[in-house]
Amino acid sequence: MSAVSKSVLVVTRPPTLPAEVAERVNRDFVVRLAETPESLTSAGLVELSDGASGLLVTLFDRIDASFFEHVAPSVKIVATRSVGYDHIDIAAAAARNIAVANTPGVLTDAVADATILLLLGASRRAYEAQQFIRAGEWAHASPIALIGRQLTGKVLGIFGMGRIGQAVADRARALGMQIHYTNPSPLAEDRAHGAVFHRDPLELLAVSELLSLHAPATPDTHHFLNAETLALLPRGAIVVNTARGELIRDEDLLAALAAGTVGAVGLDVFEHEPAIDPRYLTLKNAFLMPHLAAETVETQTAVGMLALDNIDAVLSGHTAPSLVTA
Ligand code: DGY
Repeated sequence: MSAVSKSVLVVTRPPTLPAEVAERVNRDFVVRLAETPESLTSAGLVELSDGASGLLVTLFDRIDASFFEHVAPSVKIVATRSVGYDHIDIAAAAARNIAVANTPGVLTDAVADATILLLLGASRRAYEAQQFIRAGEWAHASPIALIGRQLTGKVLGIFGMGRIGQAVADRARALGMQIHYTNPSPLAEDRAHGAVFHRDPLELLAVSELLSLHAPATPDTHHFLNAETLALLPRGAIVVNTARGELIRDEDLLAALAAGTVGAVGLDVFEHEPAIDPRYLTLKNAFLMPHLAAETVETQTAVGMLALDNIDAVLSGHTAPSLVTA
């Protein structure tokens, strides 16, 4: 591709691009980087996008209605390096005929692995164990003080049995867990592998000794876990979330942890991330990660490449391989 024919691409949070992806971006596009706080605001992105053909963004960038209302007509696509697209105003994008594309499939394994990490971290008290050994306590006290809970034979409730929910179920089955799930519709038996379907999510809660959330953030799933629904879980249940923070009302989960209704949590996502409720940080039974379930070099490279495939397709007049809208 010659320099004159290269399209302009706005790229947010460039330090998070894996080497191979950065190389392809720099080879194929005239790149405009959005890395300062001003360039990441809606107005800043509009300004930076003047004359650009597309944007390569992350799930931490809010691409709102105001962006789509004011952005230059040269912009044809917003490609997010994430499967979730709740940070992008899809209706506003469609109204301007701007394509939005995400990256499903390529991050399934990484997120499912991280979910198992959280299930084990919360049930085996991994955070406390780290503190204990690093503080030199082992010489003075028995590690039995940190006795945990076994996953074998326990019921894992999965809220949302899409690609990631199913990959979590496969891994949990290998750990000897019993899988129950809720989903808009039941899976065919060759995909359910004996998992028990609950049409009513509230019935799922009643049997979930451990519960893992795998649904997108939508008005329907907003605060799915709240004071009323948390009370339905078996006492001492473990709650894990690698989906979106908005699925849980933090205030109510913190109250349930304090009351012992919920025994422990493993959380990768939070309601107001990155400004997480500071009370989580004081809890020994909270195993916490900063939204990094999909953060492996291999996965982020695949995610970046798929996002660029989406951009290339739209800019050459084709449909993006993982088009969300327009
Ligand atoms: C995504 O890509 O939407 C996920 O949050 C990855 O963890």
